[in-house]
Amino acid sequence: MELYETGNANIWSNSYVREQLLKAHLNPDSDAASRKPKTITATVDWVLKNQSGTGSIIDLGCGPGLYTQEFAARGWATVGVDINESAINHAIESGKLQGLAIRYLHQSYLNKIDAGAFDMATCIYCDFSALTNEQQKTFLLNVHQLLTPSGVLVFDVFGAGISQTKMAGRSWERANANGFWSKFPCYVLSECQHFAQEQVWGQKYIIIPDSGEPSTYILWDHYFTVEKLESLLLAAGFSVIETKSDLVQESDFASGDVLFVRARKI
Ligand SMILES: C[S@@+](CC[C@H](N)C(=O)[O-])C[C@H]1O[C@@H](n2cnc3c(N)ncnc32)[C@H](O)[C@@H]1O
Repeated sequence: MELYETGNANIWSNSYVREQLLKAHLNPDSDAASRKPKTITATVDWVLKNQSGTGSIIDLGCGPGLYTQEFAARGWATVGVDINESAINHAIESGKLQGLAIRYLHQSYLNKIDAGAFDMATCIYCDFSALTNEQQKTFLLNVHQLLTPSGVLVFDVFGAGISQTKMAGRSWERANANGFWSKFPCYVLSECQHFAQEQVWGQKYIIIPDSGEPSTYILWDHYFTVEKLESLLLAAGFSVIETKSDLVQESDFASGDVLFVRARKI
């Protein structure tokens, strides 16, 4: 695998895989895709602590709306953005059922977002770690433009501890029909590689279904120190006002070594 090699498919937009991800988001007993309800509530408490009153908030990579619903229920004018159409559709329906006035946009947060200016922006569950260096810069530029003067960005990334949960190598398996990757029985070829200098793990999956074309998905997990984040954020016009590394008390997926950052637009 080469650094930042791209596949021909994306887990968040493939019409079959995105449905499996929605199921994972909505499973309260698993940290895959979304964290468990207890961690989500603790995160929302921390995100909104010390706020004098309510304001406007935009959740980037909002998934099925587990955080947007909490923000809106606590009186914040809330917008959610996501590229997973299945997740966004679920978020819209679920918000309506709960009588919450949340606006949802089905688009990439790497493109310009035309939704006004916000007091806060959030991006939760290590999305930032999944972006290439260039995408991280684009993301921060977009967020900067979305925030009011002195607006606040809260997001989380993996720490170096993620390396303890990964193992470089290659493997393959035969998967049954209606599994995570395909509705057809398929072969799943996996490759995991550490790019130590760039502090990123790459995970490549080649899916070869019994019927149809093969697909290649490549996922990146960057890990960070506080110092590295501070310098990235400063270059993008943000100053770090707080970090927290014990918000995720337990995780049964990826790594529990997670660093939350609160940064102010300067
Ligand atoms: C790990 S999930 C977390 C979802 C949600 N924040 C949560 O914790 O429940 C990452 C989310 O980011 C979304 N996403 C990934 N890349 C995106 C992009 N470029 N623009 C918008 N959303 C994106 C995915 O569709 C997915 O819903």
